[in-house]
Amino acid sequence: KAVHVLNGPNLNLLGTREPEVYGRETLADIETRLVAAAGKFNVRVTFRQSNQEGDLVTWIQEAGRAGEPVILNAGAYSHTSIAILDAIKGSNAHVIEVHLSNIHAREQFRHHSRLSAAARGVIVGFGSRSYDLALQALLFAPVTGES
Ligand code: DQA
Repeated sequence: KAVHVLNGPNLNLLGTREPEVYGRETLADIETRLVAAAGKFNVRVTFRQSNQEGDLVTWIQEAGRAGEPVILNAGAYSHTSIAILDAIKGSNAHVIEVHLSNIHAREQFRHHSRLSAAARGVIVGFGSRSYDLALQALLFAPVTGES
């Protein structure tokens, strides 16, 4: 079994993108840390990023079919995407939604995530550590039947 970390639009720019908001770590830095942390528990991590909404839909469907959990930062699509919401619901994917920034402390249009209602839980505002906390949530508060 694997944990799938899925990242949406503009997260490939982490490290240089608005560092005052998102920090200076790159997505590769976060990946390295998560792979190491999960490895200690013999959990495999796949780490992907796409700027295309449909890629996220497909990857969520695949994870749902495989019965494997997802850590999802859908970026701006979190606020807009009915397609990603439907993918989570329709595939019964076990999704922990993450955001680096505290979306509730930012512009009004970021306060609501369309995905949160279908997520198992949501972790926001801890910078790149939001991902580590999501992994911990999966490892220490798993759903029955998941390994
Ligand atoms: C984000 C928050 C979103 O509002 C924004 O569009 C992003 C990143 C975050 O991780 O803080 O791209 O998801």
